[in-house]
Order: sequence, then C-alpha cells, then structure tokens
Amino acid sequence: MDPTASPSGEGALGCPEDSIRLVETCLQLFTVTDAQLQQIQAALLASMEQALQDPEGPASAVRMLPTYVGSIPHGTEQGDFVVLELGATGASLRVLWVTLTGTEGPRLEPRSQEFVIPQEVMLGPGQQLFDFAARCLCEFLDTLPLCQQPLQLGFSFSFPCHQTGLDKSTLISWTKGFWCSGMEGQDVVQMLRDAIRKQGAYSIDVVAVVNDTVGTMMGGQLGPGPCEVGLVVDTGTNACYMEEARHVAVLDEDRGRVCVSVEWGSFHDAGALGPLLTTFDHVLDHGSLNPGAQRFEKMIGGLYLGELVRLVLAHLTERRALFGGCPSPALLCPGSILLEHLAAMEDPSSGEAGAHVLLQDLGLSTGMVDAKLVQQVGWAVSTRAARLCAAALSAVLARLQRGRELQTLRVAVATGGQVFERLPRFLSVLRETVQLLAPQCEVSFTPSEDGGGRGVAVVTAVAARLAAHRRLLEETLAPFRLGHRELEAVQAQMRGAMSRGLHGEASSLRMLPTYVRATPDGSERGDFLALDLGGTNFRVLLVRVAAQGVRITNQVYSIPEGVTQGSGQQLFDHIVDCIVDFQRKQGLSGQSLPLGFTFSFPCQQLGLDQGILLNWTKGFKASDCEGQDVVKLLREAIHRRQAAKLNVVAIVNDTVGTMMSCGYEDSRCEVGLIVGTGTNACYMEELRNVAAVAGDSGHMCINMEWGAFGDDGSLDALSTSFDASVDQASINPGKQRFEKMISGMYLGEIVRHILLHLTQLGVLFRGQQTQSLQARDIFKTKFLSEIESDSLALRQVRAILEDLGLPLTSDDALMVLEVCQAVSQRAARLCGAGVAAVVEKIRENRGLEELSVSVGVDGTLYKLHPHFSSLVAATVRELAPRCTVTFLQSEDGSGKGAALVTAVACRLAQSTRV
Ligand code: BG6
Ligand code: GLC
Ligand code: GLC
Repeated sequence: MDPTASPSGEGALGCPEDSIRLVETCLQLFTVTDAQLQQIQAALLASMEQALQDPEGPASAVRMLPTYVGSIPHGTEQGDFVVLELGATGASLRVLWVTLTGTEGPRLEPRSQEFVIPQEVMLGPGQQLFDFAARCLCEFLDTLPLCQQPLQLGFSFSFPCHQTGLDKSTLISWTKGFWCSGMEGQDVVQMLRDAIRKQGAYSIDVVAVVNDTVGTMMGGQLGPGPCEVGLVVDTGTNACYMEEARHVAVLDEDRGRVCVSVEWGSFHDAGALGPLLTTFDHVLDHGSLNPGAQRFEKMIGGLYLGELVRLVLAHLTERRALFGGCPSPALLCPGSILLEHLAAMEDPSSGEAGAHVLLQDLGLSTGMVDAKLVQQVGWAVSTRAARLCAAALSAVLARLQRGRELQTLRVAVATGGQVFERLPRFLSVLRETVQLLAPQCEVSFTPSEDGGGRGVAVVTAVAARLAAHRRLLEETLAPFRLGHRELEAVQAQMRGAMSRGLHGEASSLRMLPTYVRATPDGSERGDFLALDLGGTNFRVLLVRVAAQGVRITNQVYSIPEGVTQGSGQQLFDHIVDCIVDFQRKQGLSGQSLPLGFTFSFPCQQLGLDQGILLNWTKGFKASDCEGQDVVKLLREAIHRRQAAKLNVVAIVNDTVGTMMSCGYEDSRCEVGLIVGTGTNACYMEELRNVAAVAGDSGHMCINMEWGAFGDDGSLDALSTSFDASVDQASINPGKQRFEKMISGMYLGEIVRHILLHLTQLGVLFRGQQTQSLQARDIFKTKFLSEIESDSLALRQVRAILEDLGLPLTSDDALMVLEVCQAVSQRAARLCGAGVAAVVEKIRENRGLEELSVSVGVDGTLYKLHPHFSSLVAATVRELAPRCTVTFLQSEDGSGKGAALVTAVACRLAQSTRV
C-alpha cells in the first residue's frame, strides 16, 4: 500500500509546492493526537496492572518483571566496583571502574572503555558473546593499576530477564539488534562467570545483575521527590519504577517496595496502538531480527528512528517528492541512517546544515528544499517517539499514584540513553506531553549519573553487602550442621557412657534402675490416681483401667514460679492441695486409691516407691529436696495436710511412664523418649548388665538421664559459644549439656543468642540492637515450630517476629528462619544419635542381627515441631541401619503409664499376699 498515494493515483510531482504537500501528507501519518496518547496511556496502564496480577497473561502485555532491588540508594554505599554494560547502547559494550565514596567522600569520576561488538558476535552463539565480553573486561582491567584483590562486578544486562535473585537472571528473549543462539532460558550471570573463569586472569565475583533502567534509576539524583522511576531511551526503550510489593502477585511479600521493570517495548494493543502503526512501521518490523515483537519499542528506540526516517525518505523519493526522484544506493540500504544523523538535524537553526551532511553521506544530490524537508521528516519521527514515550511514562506515573493512593505524586524520573543525550528536543517534547497527560504529577527529570554505571555500582554494593552477610550467617551456623561422622562419634560416646554408667563407673550417664521389670501385659485393672510433675503442665489424673480400655480424667494445675523455686515443703504442700481439690471435684474424697507419681527428674530408686532426688533439672530449684526421698516428701505433705487417704505406690520418671503407656498398646515398645521442656530416654536393659541391682535374669527399665550426657566435657567439641552462653545463664551451669542442645527449654534461647550475635555483626536488623531481644526467654521454642511450619509464608514469619518488636527487613525474616532451622536440626540429629545408641545396645544385648523395636515418645517439641520427628527418625535410620524403629506418639502423657506401673505393682503385691 502506498501511504501517501493521492486519490487520483497520480505519482510524479512537478513543483516544490507539490513536494512539500506530499511530504506533509506523509508526515501526517506520524502525528499522534492527545486523545490517542490518552488511549495509549490507559491501555498500557491496564496492561501493566494485568501483568502485575497475572504474570502468565497474554503475550501482548508488558512483562512487569520484578527485580531484586527493594530500596532506592541511601548514598552510603562505598567501595570499588567493576561494571559491565551489555545491550543498552547498540553494538557496543562498556566497562567501567566506579568508586563509591559514601555520603562523605568526594565524587570520583569513573574510568570507562567502550568496545564495539562485531556483528557476527551479536548474531553468533551466546557463548561467543560472553567470551567476548570477558575478554573486553580483562583488556580494560589490564590498563588499571590493580593488585591481586578479588573484584566485585555489577552486570548491566538490558534484555527482558526473569530474575530470581540479585545474581540470578534468565534471559526471556533477545530484543534490539541481538540474536545469539542457545541463550534463552539460560542464567546470564552463570554464563558470564564461566566466561570470566575461562579467561583466568582476574578473580571477579559477579555480584549483581540489573536491567539498564534499574541502573539508571539508582544513579538518578533526588528531585523535589524521590527518584523512583528509571527511564531509558537508548537503542531500545523501557522503564522501571518502585512498585508496592503487595501488588506484585509473583512475590510473597506484603511489605515494602520492589523495583519492577515494565518492559514496555513489548506493549502492543490492537485498539490503542494498531491505528498508529504506519506502513513504515510494518516494513521496519518485517525487516527486523524479531518481526512481530517489540512493536512499541520499534516506534521509540534509537535503533529504529533512523531507519524509519530512511524508509520515509526512500518512499518520498520514489514518489519524486525528494531528490528529483533519484535515490542513491545508500538510501535504499537498510541501516544507512543512524541516530547521529537525526541528532545533527535536530537544532532548528543549524539542523539544516546537518541534513545536508546526511544527504551528502548518502550520496544524494540535494537542493535547499530537500534538506528542509528531510529535517522535517526527522522531527516528525522523533516527535512521535517522544510523545509515545510520554504516554507510556504517564501510565507508569498513574500506576505509582494509584498504587500509593496519592492525590498528587511528586517524583523524580532518572533518564538515560543515547536518545536523551543526542536529541535534546526529545526530552522537551516528553516533558511537555507528560504535563498534559499527567497534570496531577509533579515530575522532575534528572539525567542518570555516568550513564547508569554509578547506579549499577550502587546495586552491586548492596548485593555485595548482602552476600557478605550471607557468608557471616553461614559461618555462624556451620557448627550447627552436624555431619555423619560427628553424629557417629556422638553415638559411640553415648554407648561408652551407657556402659560405664551401668557398671557403676564414672560416667555422665547415670543409668538409673527404675524397678520396672516388665512392660504391661494388658491384664492390669483398677482405678488409680496419678500425678504428673516436671513437664510443661502439672496434672492430677484419675486413670480407670478396665477390660474395655483405659479412661482418663485429668486436670492441669499451675505451679507458680515462686513455688518451683521456693522451699520443698511449699512445693509438696501445693501438690497435695491440688490432689485434694481434684478428689473433691471428682467425688473421690475419702477413697484411698493407689497413686502413681510421674516425677520427671533424676531419682536414685531403691524400689518402686522410693526415689531420692539427685538434683533438680529444667527450671526447678525448690530447696531441701535434693538428696531426699521424694515419695517420703509427698507422704509428709499428705500428713501435714491431713489428707490421710492417699496411698503412694510408685514413683515413675516421665520416660518410663511414656514407655509403659505406649507399651500398653504395642508390646514391642521398649524405649521411652521425651523431647519437651527437657529430654531423656529409658529402655529395657538386661538385668545382668545392671551392676546396681542384684539378679542375673530378666530385664529392668533404665532411666538414662541422658540430659546430663556431656557434663564430663565429652560434647565440648560440638558445643558453640551460644551453647556456652545459654548454659552460663541457666540455673544449673555446666549441667545437662545434652539437654541444653536439644530440648524446648533451651532452643529458643540458643536462637536468641545467635540473633544477638548476628545483629552485632550487622547482619540482622540493620545492626540495631533492640531492647526486646535482650530479654531472656523472649524467643520461645514454640516460635521455632511456628516459623518452620511449611504452611506459613514468609510474611507470616515476619508477623511473628514483629510481634517481638524486632525491626525486620525482608531479608531478615529469611535469615531468622534459617537460624531456627539450623538449631532445631542439630537438636533432632543429636537426639537421633542418642536413640541410635540405645536401640543398637538393645540389639547387641540380644545378639540379634536385626532388631525391630518401638519407641514411645512424648514432649511438646517433638509433637509440635513440623520436622523434628521425621529428622530424628531419619537420623536413626542413618546411624542404626540394622534396627527397624517405630516411633509411637504417646497420646495420654505419662500419667497413664504411672497408673499402669502402679497397677502392676498392686497386682504383684496382691499375688505375694495370696
Ligand atoms: C508429658 C508427660 O506427656 O510429656 C510429662 O506427662 C512430661 O510428665 C512431658 O514431662 C514432656 O513434655 P513437656 O513438653 O511437657 O516437657
Ligand atoms: C529493551 C530491553 C529492555 C531494556 C531496553 C532499553 O527494551 O528489552 O530490557 O531496558 O531495551 O535498553
Ligand atoms: C529432665 C529430667 C528427666 C526427664 C526429662 C524430660 O532431663 O532430668 O528426668 O525425664 O527432663 O522431662
């Protein structure tokens, strides 16, 4: 189709007036009315908002790619950075050395060098392009007086990319004049790293990758408002801006902002843009490397403006409106008119001379009128570009305003790219049009410093800081990551300590006989009272064991901290008061039911109903109890309170109660494990191995008191400074070292100490020590369970932490999660090593090749933590491959077990009486 054909079909022209008329008619096609611009603005805004909500939307939409830049620069960044720019300015690549001096230092000019990329490299295999870039980089660095220090590089890569980290970005598609094979879907940072490594000359860390718009925004100066938009009109065109993170569907973020690269070059709306596309635009598109793509960019980008002018001039020559109808070979050759030619014609007064130069370059014979007309063509093409760009920018401004719910928006737009540098008129048309389209916005335009190079260096500085933080985090958490060897050593040490303890030799494991000789056989019957003291809750229970099963009624009573740490007499009086209250409420007053006492502390037992408290553990410290028979203390309190009807039959550790309780359901249950406030295990040992109890046949349940494992220093190699701090601040320093690495009473404290340390290093909470984190026990172990729960999004994790008054950034939440994971994983793995030692001992005791055994487990940490139990099981499989271990969670607490022990004792007592 001939865009300017007259209705009569007449082609040739005679006089200059006709030429002028024909040129004018042709240039009419490049006019865009204000109404059309408004339509484009609205369509682009709709396309942006759709892409924010649904990134998988139609291909014609803009892409709205989140970058990993979450804040605009503070100006405090410092250091030397290498910047490599690829893809912004046509066929060249730029390398810069940028020194950031923070807010105080003087501004230092960067050094830079530009390299022309050969055409065959731009269109060859991707690998070749990156090898070329790495070579240029080294060539540039060779000119600098550098010592052997590792260098930090920021990579400005100006093509649409899916970014998944500050240093991870996969190419979606090439745009502009590039078409290298094998690159789409590849991580461009990795490609660059590999190419640099191949060069081998410098140690360079590619720390960050950014789009040119981001570098431009980060290198912008403050105007009346913050600089939150980066606008590039270079070879191609695009913009980025700071979007509210909560509006970006692909991000799991509800706070803060994130820089989004619009990739508006791909905008193509049939309704709004379609009518504006001229034949010249279509011809240009057909002849491009990416026909059908980047239609908007092809009307604005510097790579295309000269070509559009050329197509118009060739057409007008063909119509004999110019050059006497005689084209030169150069005029017919694509790519012969460049942006610099348009630049030379820009100025209203000197531009005509510039047009002459262009025409001479093209080998065209010209008259004065021709030069003027050519100049007009140039203006028309660049004016349309500037007005379209203004419509797009106005859409971004409208989006900013809407996202922030502002009446008026004050913002600075950083501009970058050759079109701004070479065509000063472009910015004035842009500015004027934006005023028209976005009257409610107060916009200032500021050129980006050093063509965006400084901005890239700033992002690199931030990325380098984050990478350094990550290294410090890894260093801090490394001692918590126990490998197979270390765990095997723990298992072996535990085995050694078990056997020394059983033999009555010095050992951190006391291996206490419990006088429980058998697990229940199901024939137990009767009503029993039980007490359960030493875990999270103090409970009184009524346990009815009948042929149909076990029925339990229980009540939780609180024990005030003053009582747990007051006098023993107070503690036991309180316990008896609770029992009496319970009896009254259950209508049991006056009845003498046998009572089993779950007492979850280390006791030296001489019989079932005699237990000398060796020492308090966990938070208890009531005076005058250690070294005393706990059953006697209870009986004395009963006497004092004149609650004469209580008959204490058995004292049982919670591990034993749990084993008995699970053993009632599964006869293979021969191990009891607690991972709650404290941690401990018991198991059925051969009586012949138990030096403290006479007899060679049969079994006895041994309360290992494994919480004290390592109190002889055997775990010191694994212990961290955080463990030491927790231990030192506890009421029993030096004691219960294994328990302090595993159980619920301590894990939160370990995490708190790590968080304090990381804050001190400046890794967390921007280095600000907060009052709240100084408070002991503020970080509860239940937070670990909550934070590590898979169903929780990171934003909920943040909510938990914010409730503690911690001033979080989005990176902080992830780091805190990692700290929690490291601490709970170590705990679970250590616990697994302990269980492995126990089941292996049972297997060896019985001379079995393979053992199948069940472990009854209880405790809040084990039950509430989302991954603890599976990690314990996995570790046991790893360390005790010849044992098949089934873990049974106790549902009724160890009170039921205590009742069962009591039932067995009553049955035995009766049978001896008979
Ligand atoms: C319970 C027992 O089920 O588990 C308690 O009945 C025991 O006696 C407890 O101490 C361990 O868990 P926690 O988390 O309450 O210490
Ligand atoms: C192209 C690229 C885009 C870049 C722009 C300006 O549109 O796809 O990433 O920002 O050119 O260089
Ligand atoms: C502590 C106690 C121990 C108990 C364990 C679990 O380690 O000393 O007896 O079994 O906590 O509650």
